[in-house]
Amino acid sequence: MLSDDLGDKLGIWKPELTTTKAEESTLETTKAAGKPTADDKNATKQRKMRDRSELVPYTFAGRSLRIREIQVSMEEEVGYKVWHAGEAFCEYLDGGNLDLVDKTILELGAGTGIVGIVASLMGADVTLTDLREVLWNLEENVRRNTEGCRHTPKVQELTWGKGLDRFSDKSYDFIIGTDIIYFEELHRDLIFTIKQLSRPHTRVLLCHYPRWPSRDKRFLELLQKDFDIVNQCKFLTARLFEAKRISKR
Ligand SMILES: C[S@@+](CC[C@H](N)C(=O)[O-])C[C@H]1O[C@@H](n2cnc3c(N)ncnc32)[C@H](O)[C@@H]1O
Repeated sequence: MLSDDLGDKLGIWKPELTTTKAEESTLETTKAAGKPTADDKNATKQRKMRDRSELVPYTFAGRSLRIREIQVSMEEEVGYKVWHAGEAFCEYLDGGNLDLVDKTILELGAGTGIVGIVASLMGADVTLTDLREVLWNLEENVRRNTEGCRHTPKVQELTWGKGLDRFSDKSYDFIIGTDIIYFEELHRDLIFTIKQLSRPHTRVLLCHYPRWPSRDKRFLELLQKDFDIVNQCKFLTARLFEAKRISKR
């Protein structure tokens, strides 16, 4: 679900934050029992998030999907809603632009998981990754929407630039990411991650909504130190780039 004013700043919903009676009583109980643990705090946070979430319907790959999206404030994580480029890329996949059957795909910054879910439904062997905080919702969305897929999708924590050894024995046909290049302070970590986890045959597909052209340009300049941009196009309101690692002669 995308609001028209999404292009403004990050376009993140700014809901009224309220605490329900049930949450208040949970907090009280935890306090009475002593200091809340990190797990208690996470559970409370997730409960609050569920309260301001909805299962948003989408139709892709001939299936009716239900994606849990959560209203978030600026201070919270951005991985709880489907972004413009994510939706555009699903349309792109749905249009049959790529043959995904039995292809291995690593998705970076998967958020709600909609792109990886659609790729799974189209026959790919997908690993969806994101920051630890958003994995609970990502996992639930994947489970809810991928029954009967040819390959069971995997969900794993991957913070760009960190712990990449866990993935380095794999060979991916595609590395994909939608709306993940606008964090300029993370450009280096993101490109390092793509570089470490790609092989010469890997097709790197990055799709973004052009909010900040100069920032996007700087990302592409940095990427081109190690990758060739082999294709680029506009798709709906998004821009799509395909890059391949420059092979050392
Ligand atoms: C704007 S959202 C895009 C989500 C999804 N790809 C889409 O198009 O709907 C950016 C995603 O990148 C993830 N992210 C941000 N910083 C990250 C980091 N350092 N490492 C891994 N993922 C990160 C966020 O959690 C979020 O899911």
